[in-house]
Amino acid sequence: MKWSLWQRRWAGFGIIAILAFVAACTNQTRTQTATPLPPMPTLDAERVLQGREVYQAHCATCHGANAEGAPHWATPSPDGLYPAPPHDDSGHTWHHSDHVLEETIRDGMGDPLRPGSPMRMPAFGEVLAEAEVRAVIAHFKSLWSEEHRFWQWNDTLKDLGPTPNSP
Ligand code: HEC
Repeated sequence: MKWSLWQRRWAGFGIIAILAFVAACTNQTRTQTATPLPPMPTLDAERVLQGREVYQAHCATCHGANAEGAPHWATPSPDGLYPAPPHDDSGHTWHHSDHVLEETIRDGMGDPLRPGSPMRMPAFGEVLAEAEVRAVIAHFKSLWSEEHRFWQWNDTLKDLGPTPNSP
């Protein structure tokens, strides 16, 4: 079929109109789905202080007086287990959401390859109240850079539901 000049012009116009329509629709979905993140909460100074006391009483013996971790924490011991890591920026505590940190402190950490073996990180669920666990996490947050805090805050927002397995 041979198109006349005006037919080609109208076809061109039609394609542009369709593209503009599609672009408008995509734009609309984009603005609809992009919900702004709630702002990162500021730390409660009193809770941080309470957390520091809990930390000194229950955690410092293994994780270090200043949360700097056990000596050579990044090198596994002869039994293949890792010593207590730091909780400041140099460690990986800030890689975990609030939910995972609460679970770790409450339930402890065993060796996943040796079920029933002694806890490498003791469980504090029977020792500390929930508020004390949250306070000690607030203390850790006070040790992190703004960037690490923001990263962990985003991870916490993504992980608001319960996880099927404790860490
Ligand atoms: C008896 C020593 C010991 C005590 C006391 C202890 N921890 Fe630990 N903790 C460990 C060890 C060892 C690990 C590392 C386990 C591993 O990586 O396999 C660990 C890991 C952790 C982790 C996970 C860190 C990560 O990045 O994965 C958190 C969080 C933690 N401890 C918090 C605490 C808090 C809070 C307290 C005090 C309430 C505490 N620990 C007391 C030995 C201890």
